[in-house]
Amino acid sequence: MNAKLAGLGLMALIAAALMWAGAVEPEATMKTEQDSLLLRMADLTLAEGEHHSGSGNCVLCHGPDPIAMQDAEGNDVSVVTHWQATMMANSAKDPFWRAKVAHEGLENPDYTDEIANVCTGCHAPAGHHEAHWAGDDLYNIADLEGDEMGLDGVNCTSCHTINDDSLRWRFNGDLPTNEDRVIWGPFTPQVTMPMQNNVNYTPTSSGHMLTSEVCAPCHSLYTHTFDLEGQPTDGVFFEQSTYLEWLNSSYPEEGVECQTCHMPRLPGGTILSDRPTWLAANPLGQHHLVGGNSFMLKVLRDNAAGLDLSASTVQFDSTIARTERMLQHHSANLALTPLDAPAGEYAFEVELENLTGHKFPTGYPSRLTFIEFELRDTLGNELFHSGAWSPEEGIAGRDLPFEPHHNEITSEDQVQVYEMVFADVSGTSSTVLDQAASVLKDNRLAPSGFSMGHMSYDTAAFGPAAALDADFNRFADGTEGSGTDRLVYRITPDGYFGEVIAEVTLHYMTLPARWVEEMFGYAADHEAIADFQAMFNEADRTPVEVVKVFYPESAAGVASVQDRPDGRLVPNPATDRVRIEGLDVHQAWLLDAAGRQVAAFSGTEAALGIDVGGLPTGMYFIRVETRSGEEAVLRGVKG
Ligand code: HEC
Ligand code: HEC
Ligand code: HEC
Ligand code: HEC
Ligand code: HEC
Repeated sequence: MNAKLAGLGLMALIAAALMWAGAVEPEATMKTEQDSLLLRMADLTLAEGEHHSGSGNCVLCHGPDPIAMQDAEGNDVSVVTHWQATMMANSAKDPFWRAKVAHEGLENPDYTDEIANVCTGCHAPAGHHEAHWAGDDLYNIADLEGDEMGLDGVNCTSCHTINDDSLRWRFNGDLPTNEDRVIWGPFTPQVTMPMQNNVNYTPTSSGHMLTSEVCAPCHSLYTHTFDLEGQPTDGVFFEQSTYLEWLNSSYPEEGVECQTCHMPRLPGGTILSDRPTWLAANPLGQHHLVGGNSFMLKVLRDNAAGLDLSASTVQFDSTIARTERMLQHHSANLALTPLDAPAGEYAFEVELENLTGHKFPTGYPSRLTFIEFELRDTLGNELFHSGAWSPEEGIAGRDLPFEPHHNEITSEDQVQVYEMVFADVSGTSSTVLDQAASVLKDNRLAPSGFSMGHMSYDTAAFGPAAALDADFNRFADGTEGSGTDRLVYRITPDGYFGEVIAEVTLHYMTLPARWVEEMFGYAADHEAIADFQAMFNEADRTPVEVVKVFYPESAAGVASVQDRPDGRLVPNPATDRVRIEGLDVHQAWLLDAAGRQVAAFSGTEAALGIDVGGLPTGMYFIRVETRSGEEAVLRGVKG
């Protein structure tokens, strides 16, 4: 990591923090009593355990309130409001998780309960640990079904009772036991009695709550490999290494922790509790806790009643908006550079840069990103298209069992997909977590500063092809840690030699259909799998657009050509003058086929007709701003 880039990283983060604070989502302006009826706090559990406490017990003082937990404008920023509609709050009711636990058990029937016990360790931590402290050996799905504490998911006390005890090297939900009814937080509390009296916890200051180590025990996960007969082998497999990926990046030394990006600080802070009434404001790390999983959040929102979820639609919509902002503003950069090529051939370099604090994508192995590359002539006709997506076919050109990592793409049946693919003991690609034995492919983008020499590299190694790619995670001078990948698209369209427009899009997918096929094969054998299959088939599975770039850059301006039934160009095609009909024009701009601006007109000038006589034949655009401030782009053809 060179000093210049380190500086840029921090600058970007400062800018990012400001953007996070400034963006609007449905929840963000809720303050009146009427509004707060849209939040559903009363359904949170009041369960009490030996060491854990249900999230409903924290609402009284840390929930939405006219005194506490609001920003400078009086909008609700309660930690409960934010947390309640996150994936972590709903981790024990997550229908994909439920289906997958069932699937893993069906694949390894002699160990069904042992496997479920491992899964509940992170997805239902408070219930799991309470049961073990009470002397139970196993905590499975039947135990969870009747246990409000387990169903509370990764709840407040799951995080706030984590002692600072060798956290870095804990895995698989191995949380240290907090015997002392201590709630850890980053600040010295102004008063401790209210919490002691009400929930029998003492809020206590400790710096470890501001470090990534609190997240490590649940965000480092390895599985014990089972063979195809469902029997354990000696092998282990690192399924998720998000914390260890972060550890092997430039962020630890820059002081950028998980919280920096996932719990953005509220400018100005807030009063943390509504009682006592005299508390001064404190800093607040907002409990946004979002990643890239807007897909499942939508499934949760749309099935909330059936799944018995407590959060309201407004809360889910807010978490979804934050998630998509995370993906679109903080995940990756894309750059497109034309390369010299002989006449009739078109060559472009595409460079991707990971902006997250870990691999991109990270976490659960179904996640992937892929590149869609479209080349068009100046009439808008398609010359080449790699990585098109449709609900029926998924990603066009994606090979079975998996698409190799590419350095150069020359044909439409190749597509760049960044993902992790694992194999079982026979070397066959698999989606059974407990049979994972080796990596077939892992070309997920490394975070900035990542190196193959780092002590934790073996927990987050590149797959074979990425490790051999000379520019993967390499700066131009060959040193490691760029967090980038470069690849070339080299295209020879049939008999076309003219100007071209290229459009490149990076897409993110939480759960491609292919990844759940194997599991859905068991739908007849388990209700949880059949239930999730029904929800999956109902869901909108369109990938999220992360970033998009154009060549020439000016073509971006005409990318959003919308069919405006009310606005049209007359005549079309035209040879000299056109009029804009159906729109109340304030200003208009004439653009050529590549989106370059040719001329500008006032509303009055445009009403006299726009001269397109000087344009070459082919497509052109007129961009319009109406008097009411709306924008439209109309497409015309010069005859
Ligand atoms: C070390 C803690 C831990 C354990 C143990 C664990 N998980 Fe997870 N699991 C996670 C985390 C963290 C995520 C979220 C990662 C992400 O969003 O990319 C996750 C995500 C998932 C998802 C995706 C959920 C979604 O909504 O997309 C499924 C399915 C899942 N786990 C199944 C299982 C199964 C089955 C087991 C037991 C064999 C298990 N998990 C054990 C931590 C754990
Ligand atoms: C009766 C009111 C009340 C209840 C109920 C309550 N708290 Fe608190 N909490 C407080 C007060 C008061 C503070 C100190 C605020 C301050 O110093 O500004 C506090 C502080 C905290 C802190 C910050 C500690 C630090 O050192 O930074 C955390 C974390 C916390 N509470 C978590 C919880 C959790 C989790 C629950 C539910 C199990 C809960 N609280 C229930 C009143 C309450
Ligand atoms: C995923 C772990 C996690 C969960 C779940 C969680 N917290 Fe926190 N909480 C933290 C961390 C980390 C901080 C410190 C953030 C900071 O200050 O930047 C924190 C801070 C706080 C604070 C002090 C103010 C602050 O931002 O430092 C309070 C109060 C609090 N949490 C209450 C709660 C309550 C109530 C819940 C449940 C509704 C909850 N937390 C759930 C991790 C968690
Ligand atoms: C007790 C275990 C546990 C702890 C501690 C924990 N997590 Fe998680 N986290 C999970 C599980 C389980 C999931 C997956 C839930 C699911 O998808 O069903 C998850 C998912 C997430 C996600 C994915 C959300 C999405 O929408 O894609 C993010 C981001 C996250 N955790 C951040 C954090 C951060 C930051 C910390 C530390 C402050 C932390 N977690 C601490 C268990 C934990
Ligand atoms: C520099 C900012 C940054 C830091 C530091 C960071 N993350 Fe993230 N994280 C992101 C962004 C942006 C995303 C959304 C893109 C994605 O899904 O990878 C994300 C996504 C995630 C996801 C969800 C992946 C999914 O399936 O969608 C998890 C889980 C997660 N982060 C956990 C963590 C943990 C744990 C840490 C600390 C060890 C951490 N992050 C540090 C920016 C960061």
